[in-house]
This record gives sequence, structure tokens and C-alpha cells, in this order.
Amino acid sequence: MNQSEREAAKRRAGESAVEAVEDGMTVGLGSGSTAAHAIRALGRDVDSGLDVEGVPTSFQARELAVETGIELTTLDERSVDLAIDGADQVAGPHLVKGGGGAHAREKIVDSAADRLLVVADPTKEADVLDHPVPVEVLPDARAPVTDAVRRLGGQPDLRRAERKTGPVVTDNGNLVLDCDFGAMPDPAGLAADLAGLPGVVEHGLFVDAADEVHVGTETEVTVFEP
Ligand code: 5RP
Repeated sequence: MNQSEREAAKRRAGESAVEAVEDGMTVGLGSGSTAAHAIRALGRDVDSGLDVEGVPTSFQARELAVETGIELTTLDERSVDLAIDGADQVAGPHLVKGGGGAHAREKIVDSAADRLLVVADPTKEADVLDHPVPVEVLPDARAPVTDAVRRLGGQPDLRRAERKTGPVVTDNGNLVLDCDFGAMPDPAGLAADLAGLPGVVEHGLFVDAADEVHVGTETEVTVFEP
């Protein structure tokens, strides 16, 4: 799958998930390039008269929603009917997220939603999760969490910014450690261990999270309920 085929697959997945959105719904707006296709498709539906409100999961999602004319709201005001979000890896209902460093807000919004629809291209599918897990940490907790992740069997790597010297700083003002644990046959156990570390704001393991997965291909979309 070359880059343009992959982009088309992401677009198909995003557009497919948006078909589940109904008039009057509050929709969680995911982050990343695949979720962006869904937000753009939802914006087109709003242009054609669909009445929805969106809860963004990141600066990027908020900006795109404003650009495409989707009315915004918050979890203080509305409950979320449906969230549409991307993933870095999908194994059944389990996900690794946080490639964009937005997994803390994504987890808040996605888990608040009645249903989470995950949008992906085929490169994201796996039998067992083995993608490095992004762990958002308070800046003061970087060193102890780095040590603790090593004790859990992971290899932590501070995420570096590309157009700035130094680390990536999240929308919440924190740092991200990308932690490679190899294959993770027990994501629930690892998720609990990571969540228990002082200074960890949120990690990118989304256990039993997906209600529906839309995988775009070069020609179609496969939808499954894990
Ligand atoms: C951001 C995320 C994204 O959903 C994930 O990284 C997938 O992104 P893309 O659709 O661009 O591959 O979790 O924090």
C-alpha cells in the first residue's frame, strides 16, 4: 500500500464511520490524520443540514472542527453519543493510541461516549498489540517513571519535538515517553501497572475500548464489532 493508497483508505474509513452519526447527536472528535477525514466528512454533513455538536479531543480536532463549521461543546454540557477516533494499532477491542500525544483527552472523551468507532487503515491491524505505548507524564515525574517503566520490562524513549529543540510538550503541558514493551498479550495488566505509577497522567493503552472498527482499504471498508 503506497502513501496515496493509504491516505485513500484512511479517508474511506473516516467517511464510513460518519455514516453512523444521526441528527441531534453529540460526537467525540478524534485526533490524527484518519480522524481528521471523519471530521471533514462530518463538516460536509453539517453544511448539508445535519445538526450535531462535537467534543474535540485535541487542539488539532478543535481547530479542524471550527474550520469545517462543527458546533463545539464540552463534557460539562453534554454527554457523548458517539466518538470517532483513530489508533496507532488495533487488536480486537484493544488499541494503542497517542501517536499525536493526545491520548489523555482522547481517553476521556472516547470512554465517555456511548460508542467508540475506531477508524484505521490496514497497517494498523494486529493480532496482539506490540506498538510502543505513549505515556504522558508530569515533567517532574520523567526520571522516576522512566525507571519504573524499565522495571515493568519496557524501553522508554522521551518523545522529541521535530521543529523545536527538546521534548514534545502535550496540549496539557506534559512530556511523553514512548515505551516499547514488545508484544503485550495482557494489555489490561500492563494498563493497570502504568496507571498506578505516580506522575503518569495517562497512557495510550485503550483496553476493551472499541465498539466498532472501520478499516478502509484501497477499494472498500471492512466494519467489525470486536
Ligand atoms: C493521536 C492518536 C491518533 O488517533 C493515532 O496516532 C492515529 O493517527 P493517524 O490516523 O494519523 O495514523 O492516537 O494521539
